[in-house]
Amino acid sequence: METRHNFGSKLGAVLASAGSAVGLGNVWRFPTEVGNNGGAAFIFIYLICIAVIGIPVMMSEFLIGRHTHANTISAFAKLAPGKWWRIEGIAGVFVAFLILSYYIVISGWTLFYLIESLSGHLQADRDYTLVFDNFVSNPWLPVLAGAAFMGLTHFIIARGVQSGIERSSKLMMPLLLFIIGILVVCSFGMPGSSAGLRFLLKPDFSKITANVFLSAVGQAFFSLSLAMGCLCTYASYFRHDTKLPKTAVGVSVIDTFVAILSGFIIFPAVFSVEGVSVDAGPGLVFITLPHVFNIAFSHVPVLGYIFSSFFYLLLLLAALTSAISLHESVTAYVLEAFHVSRRRAAAIVSIACMTLGVACSLSFGVWSDLTLFGMNIFEIFDFTASKIILPIGGIIICLFTGWYLDRKMVESELTNGGTLRFRLFRLYYFIIRYVAPLAIAAVFVQELLS
Ligand code: PFF
Repeated sequence: METRHNFGSKLGAVLASAGSAVGLGNVWRFPTEVGNNGGAAFIFIYLICIAVIGIPVMMSEFLIGRHTHANTISAFAKLAPGKWWRIEGIAGVFVAFLILSYYIVISGWTLFYLIESLSGHLQADRDYTLVFDNFVSNPWLPVLAGAAFMGLTHFIIARGVQSGIERSSKLMMPLLLFIIGILVVCSFGMPGSSAGLRFLLKPDFSKITANVFLSAVGQAFFSLSLAMGCLCTYASYFRHDTKLPKTAVGVSVIDTFVAILSGFIIFPAVFSVEGVSVDAGPGLVFITLPHVFNIAFSHVPVLGYIFSSFFYLLLLLAALTSAISLHESVTAYVLEAFHVSRRRAAAIVSIACMTLGVACSLSFGVWSDLTLFGMNIFEIFDFTASKIILPIGGIIICLFTGWYLDRKMVESELTNGGTLRFRLFRLYYFIIRYVAPLAIAAVFVQELLS
């Protein structure tokens, strides 16, 4: 069996974990949720969810991974031999596999839109709804784009923890932050952008309903990559001197920063064009934005070209760093459980995910009639993963850390054997035992009822 590697540096650990967290969820899903849930009021609730639930749950995943130095399934099995808790490890790896299968579909769309933008096709005045519908329902193009994206992910994973994941994160994350900076500045310069800023900054608390709160918790979990085995797997590569609470805070701050800045890129742009709606749903970045870029920069098309190409590059980088964490969660298990080489493990995972990915992709076209409870294959995957397995997994992680694991072991892991001060430990422990599981359970029940 191959020797197990660690991340070479603390910065590498933070950037790789932040790479997992920063993804389509930030640039694509967060602005969509903000648009659908009334703007600033949603952001306010979201920030509370990140601080109160997200960071403590992330610390718990980190401590499970780092303590065991094993893939997620073995981690739970080691900590709870012969007990039912092991199911959470299996669910974590399974859900990562499921999510990767449909994540590559949207990521493939992103790659396609980047190529379209670079080749100047997005600048031509077109019916963008038709462009999008024709593309996603084509049986070949989106599959090819998804396969190309999977190829990129596979290439990085096959190179290993340090030369693949860590090195690529150290390159891609700063580049991603740089692109965001450029786009925010460009977006602020657009005429009418102040309406977008007002939408993002001025909360209207009458908009806060139970549903807004539930969407915020769900979004926080997805965005921070919680309960899917990814952060647990990455933490298994952390060194013994990595500070877990500090890393969890750092990753959450970067993730939230990118999500809010994505809002600052998208909404001023959207508000600068009359008659475009902010609650266009998932079509926001693939239908509304090309239209907005085209109109807003009609006087200086070259700026539109640069803006849209950078935007899709940003989306692609974000998707790639998240996809490698999903892939690694499954690959680490295959590699360690079946004693095969990393290359072989990665190939098995890539091929299996791609096979399911083809089904997800076709569900927008020739297989769109294949439905269950009114959902196509893509939607079934998303629903099962993010609405069922994820919340249950989140609750189990809280109960496992708060009620099953020895409190001394938890404290010792979070303080690196007592060498660090973690003044908020009692608060953390209270949250993980009571607040977080109850809040997630409330979301889960409400989602199911609705
Ligand atoms: N956090 C990623 C995003 O915001 O897009 C998505 C994701 C990555 C979810 C990795 C889960 C995961 F394990």
